[in-house]
Formats: sequence, structure tokens, C-alpha cells
Amino acid sequence: MRPTLVFLQSQCLLCVLVGVYVPGVVGSLPHALPWHVTCPVRCVCQIKPWFSPDSVYHEAPTVDCNDLLLTKLPLPIPPNTHTLRLQSNLLSELNTAVLHGLANLTDLDLSQNRFSRVKTIAQSSSLPSLLSLHLEENHLSRLPEASFSSLPALQELFLSHNNLHSIAPGAFTGLDSLLRLHINNNRLTTVDPRWFRALPRLEVLMLGGNPVEALPERGFLALKSLRSLVLGGMGLRGLAEKALEGLDGLESLSFYDNLLTKVPTQALMRVPGLKFLDLNKNRIKLIETGDFRDMVHLKELGLNNMEELVSIERAALENLPELTKLEITNNPRLSYIHPQAFLQLSRLESLMLNSNSLSALHQHVMLSLPSLQEVSLHSNPLRCDCLFHWAAQEASPHHSEDAQTERQTPRMVRFIQPQATLCSEPAELRARRVREVSSREMSALCLPMIPTSSLPSYVGVREGGKLVLHCRALADPQPELYWVTPSGLRLDPAPSHASKGVPAPAPCHSLAASEGFNHTSGISHSQPQDDTPCNPSKHYRLLPEGTLEMNKVTSSEAGLYTCVAENALGADTRSVTVGVHGREKKRKRGVAANKKGSQLFSEDARLEVRDVGQHNAILSWQSRRNLPSTRLSWQAIYSNAHMPTYTTRILAGTQSFNLTHLQAETFYRVCLYFGISEGTAHASRRSGKSRKPQCVSFRTKDVPEPQPSLQLSPELTSTDC
Ligand SMILES: *[C@@H]1O[C@H](CO)[C@@H](O)[C@H](O)[C@H]1NC(C)=O
Ligand SMILES: *[C@@H]1O[C@H](CO)[C@@H](O)[C@H](O)[C@H]1NC(C)=O
Ligand SMILES: *[C@@H]1O[C@H](CO)[C@@H](O)[C@H](O)[C@H]1NC(C)=O
Repeated sequence: MRPTLVFLQSQCLLCVLVGVYVPGVVGSLPHALPWHVTCPVRCVCQIKPWFSPDSVYHEAPTVDCNDLLLTKLPLPIPPNTHTLRLQSNLLSELNTAVLHGLANLTDLDLSQNRFSRVKTIAQSSSLPSLLSLHLEENHLSRLPEASFSSLPALQELFLSHNNLHSIAPGAFTGLDSLLRLHINNNRLTTVDPRWFRALPRLEVLMLGGNPVEALPERGFLALKSLRSLVLGGMGLRGLAEKALEGLDGLESLSFYDNLLTKVPTQALMRVPGLKFLDLNKNRIKLIETGDFRDMVHLKELGLNNMEELVSIERAALENLPELTKLEITNNPRLSYIHPQAFLQLSRLESLMLNSNSLSALHQHVMLSLPSLQEVSLHSNPLRCDCLFHWAAQEASPHHSEDAQTERQTPRMVRFIQPQATLCSEPAELRARRVREVSSREMSALCLPMIPTSSLPSYVGVREGGKLVLHCRALADPQPELYWVTPSGLRLDPAPSHASKGVPAPAPCHSLAASEGFNHTSGISHSQPQDDTPCNPSKHYRLLPEGTLEMNKVTSSEAGLYTCVAENALGADTRSVTVGVHGREKKRKRGVAANKKGSQLFSEDARLEVRDVGQHNAILSWQSRRNLPSTRLSWQAIYSNAHMPTYTTRILAGTQSFNLTHLQAETFYRVCLYFGISEGTAHASRRSGKSRKPQCVSFRTKDVPEPQPSLQLSPELTSTDC
């Protein structure tokens, strides 16, 4: 949207910096020619270049009386004056009789003055040639009916930065030729559809900077010619489905700096001709599946400067055949772009992703964009490992033999600011330029990593309110995510083939349930037991990508929630402390409940040996608390030797462990150390109890004695001897 929006902004610049701006753009045109007339004292009269709102060039006789502290119209104004500039004076009234004489007056600039009523300017005189009227930065507070009826030719009207809080339904009556209307930065709280009935030719409407919290349905129905609509800085929290209905010619739309929490997909579907869309600086948390789908004319999309954006989900952008430029930058929490976030973007050339919290861009993203020419990834905490192999130095096309692979090599893509595109992980590659790291140096392993920026360490929620926690992790192979609640309940996502939009209740199994606890199920935790009755799941939802939603949170649900991302290579966990803010009384009760909880825990957490083999042993324990940093250590015990101790971290929500690679016929001692985590450290240190490790000992089974028998083959027997 840059071209259009910059264009609009420069129009605004034009009105403030007329003398500076125009020569800068049209360098080859003469700056000014002398105009030999009797000029008002201290004003400057010259012939100057001038462009009409529909871009027709004029050599305009111009009287410039800007910045003169004038309190009334200076005299004499030459009768042939085309442009009259009175910006930055102290005018609150005009001698309309003088204006009457200016039959050729085309551009009147009264910005930055003290007008409080339009009647004093427009209503009492007829200016048949006036195309452009500047009234921005005055003291206008209301526009009565037919405020501009004496200006039949007007094409451009600037009313921005006044105090307008009331505009009569027919205020613009008579402005049949108006192309541009600037009423941004006023005090309007509503948008009245009747205003626009008089403006059939309007092409540009600047409405931003008014405290309008909601737009009416079909409010712009009359604006059949509108091409550009700017709704920036209005405090919009959402958009009615039919808010944009009737804007059949709309090409450029800006929602810059509003309070939108979701992409207004339904409303956007009503403007199929849209080419430029700016959603920058909103409160959108997720770009979700289908948010931008089938917008077949969209060329440029901006999703920048969003404090709360954490994730671009699968198929968030789909079938946008004209999209050439996508900007998703300066989003401090954006740490995840799904490998299949972008589908059918056949013409995307420029992908701007700088200044986010991205650790990597999955190769699938690159492969899904056949026309991509440039990508910007600088100012991200990039992780130079297998996820980023495609970007490594010698991952170049001549390594691939067949044409198909060559076409699919992301290497051809140009990095914007390669000198600032640096690795921040792993430690040994830190601060190296991504493009100068060789693929040999990049680790082939892709352990899951949950970016710190995606989950805060503390989240407060009102009692009875809704809790939403987003957890995302990139890895190869794709990790599985699950959550563990403070009570030790493990929540697995609904199967990924579940119907989109309506997430199924999370399947879960209570790890604390002592009856029917099956240790094998705890080990193979990718298979939740579907038949386990799980009442709390009605209350929780785990969305496929890893978002945990909880409705009607109670104070007893405060505590530590842990997200676990796991693939075949390993796992990562991240915990968030959830505080539930209720009334004082309830909060006290919550603390009491917690103390009781930790007692329960120390009684419950009993390490047991479930099964012992020759080379393995299955251990299990129970805990009613979510303890994310639990460790298990084991040591072979021989009377005559000091053996090494092995330690492994236990994933949150896991309550059993299969110790393998043990030696047969050997005594082992195993201890379970309960974790100290950010959220529970304080309480645990005070109680002391819960930190004591639980230990057990066992002996691995004997290797069966080889029984000499006839079944042994002669060869084997002889070798043994
Ligand atoms: C207005 O412009 C027309 C055409 O350029 C010209 O003939 C006429 O004299 C001008 N009127 C005045 C009052 O200068
Ligand atoms: C535990 O798992 C084993 C092996 O899958 C199965 O045979 C057994 O029936 C299960 N026991 C319970 C109580 O679910
Ligand atoms: C434990 O690990 C051993 C060795 O890998 C394996 O043979 C055994 O089947 C595992 N037991 C369970 C219950 O997973």
C-alpha cells in the first residue's frame, strides 16, 4: 500500500509545505515567474506551478500571504488571482465582498487560522472556480446543512485537525464534484451515512483520527466512486460484517492504529476490488487460517507494528494471486510462521519479515513462494541450524541436478540487508552473518524450541474471565505440543484433521488419577487414552497449533501452566504463571488451597518401580502438581567402585520413565528430584518438604543361564569353547 498511502500523505504535506514540496517533485518546472501586479503589502505575487486535484497543470497567478499574523484580508487582491495563500494567520472572518470579485480563484488556503464557523467563508459568497479549499487546523466545531453550497466546482476539501463534533446530515449538499474529503483528526464519534449521499464522485475519504468506536453497517453505501478510505487512529475494536458494503471501487484501505483484535475478514470480503490493505498497529494476536483468502486483487498487505501478534497460522494467506508485497515487520512477539502459512501466493515478490522475534523461516515457506525475489529477515533472533539450512552459504542451485529441484531452491532469493542478518543461536555461531555460514557449520539437528517472546512468564486473568495462552514451536520434524495444568493434568491437542474453526475439546488424561493409572500410557504420551473420562476438558480447549483456551477461570486454577514441545530429537518446555484476580477474600482462600496442594504433593509423590527387565526398568510416580523441572538420576551400585551418576530431565506431565541401557544383574539406585521453577520457587523453599528427592533401589534381572542342549548348533558350541 505504500505508493497510495504515501501519495495520500504527500497530499497532506502539500497543504502544509506547498512552497517546498512542489518544486522538489517537479524539478524541471520553473519555480516561479514574476507577476507584475499591485500586490498587497508584505505578500508575494508570482506565477507558480499548480496542479488541480485531478492532476491538471496550471501556471497559476499566486498571492502568498502566509505567516503574516493577519487579522483581516490584505488588500488589494489582484482580480485574476488563482491561488490565494493565507496559511498561519489570525483570521476568523473574511470580507466576502472582496472574495466575490475573484472570479478565477481556484485554490484558497485558510489553514492554521481561527475560523470557528464555515458560514463566514463559504456560504455567503459564490466562488464558481474554486477547486481546492484548505480549512485544516482551525476552530470549526460544527458543519450546518449545506455548508459549502456556494462552491459548486469544489474538488478537494480539507477540514482535518479542527474540533468538529457535529456534522449535519446534508452538510456537504451541493458538492457534486468533490473528489477528496479530509475530515480526519476531529472529534466525531459517529459516522452518518447521510453525509455521503451528496458526494457521488468522491474518490478519497480521510476519516481517521476521530474517536469512532464502531462504523455503521452500510455506512459508505453511497460512495460508489470511492477508491481510497483511510480509517486510521479511530479506536475501532471490530468491524461489522456489512461495514464496507457498497464500496465497489475501493482499492486502498487503511486501518492503521486501531484496536482491532482480529482480521475483519467478513467485512473485507465485501470489498473484492481491494489492492492495498494496511492493518498496521492493531491488537491482532493471531493471523488465523482463512483470514486472508481469495482476495484476488490484493497487491500489498501490511501487518506491521503489532505489539500482540504472536503467530501466523496455517493457510493464513491463501489464494491471493496478485499479492506482490507482504510486510510483517516490527512485531516484537511474532515468533512463529507456520510452514504452510502462505498458500497460492503465486506472484509474491517481496517478503518483509524484519524486526520480529522469528527464530527461523521454514524452508516450506520459501518453497511455497515461486516468484519470491527478496526477503528481509534482519533484526530477528535467528537460529542457524537445520531449520535455516536453505539460507546457508553453499545451498546454491548448482548443487541440485534436475531442473525441478533447481526451480525450488530458495537460495536465489535476495536478502535485504544481509550484513545485518545475523545468527543469534547457537552460541558458537552468534553474530555471524547468516549468508556466510556454511551448511556444514549448521547443525543438522532441529530440537524444538519455544521462543521466549511467545509466552510471558506471568499472565493475570480476572476471576470468571477467559484465559488464552499461545505456545508455538518450530522444529524438524514438526513437534507435538501439549500443556500441563497446575494440577498435573495433561492436555493434548485435538487431532490435526479436526474440522477447522471449531476446535474439539482437548483430549486429556488425568495423570494424578491413582486408579487405572497405566504406566505404559505415560511413556507413550503421544497416544492419549480417549476413553479416560475427562470432565475438565469441557472447560479447556487446546487448538491444533498449541493455543490453550480456558473459560470461566476460577481462583483454584491459578498456578503454573507448562507448554511442552516435543519431537523425536527432544523437547522444550516453557512455563507461565497464571494469576487469578478475584476479591481479597477469595485470594486468601487460593493461598490456603495452594498450601494444601503442596502437602498433598509430598504425600503423593512416591517413586515406584513398576517393572524390571534385564536392561531396563520402568519407574512411575504420581503428582498432583505441575512441576516442570523434574529430574531423574540413577547410578549403578557396586560395593567396590564409584560409578557415574546419570541424570535426565523429565518432561512436564510425564509420570513414568523407562530407564534403558542398564546392565543386567546389577543394583541401581534411582532418585527423582522435584523441580524448582520460577512460579513455585518461593513456596517450595519455605515448605522445604517438596524438595526432598524420592529414591528407590532395584536389581536388574539375570541373564538366563545358557542351558546346554541339543538344540544349539554345533558351530556355536564350538566357538563358545
Ligand atoms: C479569468 O480567466 C479567464 C480565462 O483565463 C480570463 O479571460 C479572465 O479575464 C479572468 N478573469 C479575471 C477577473 O481576471
Ligand atoms: C495397560 O497397558 C497394557 C499394555 O498396553 C494393557 O495390556 C493393559 O490392559 C493396560 N492396563 C490398564 C489398567 O489400562
Ligand atoms: C523400555 O525400553 C526397552 C529398551 O528400549 C524396550 O525394549 C521396552 O519395550 C520399553 N518398555 C516399554 C514399556 O516401553
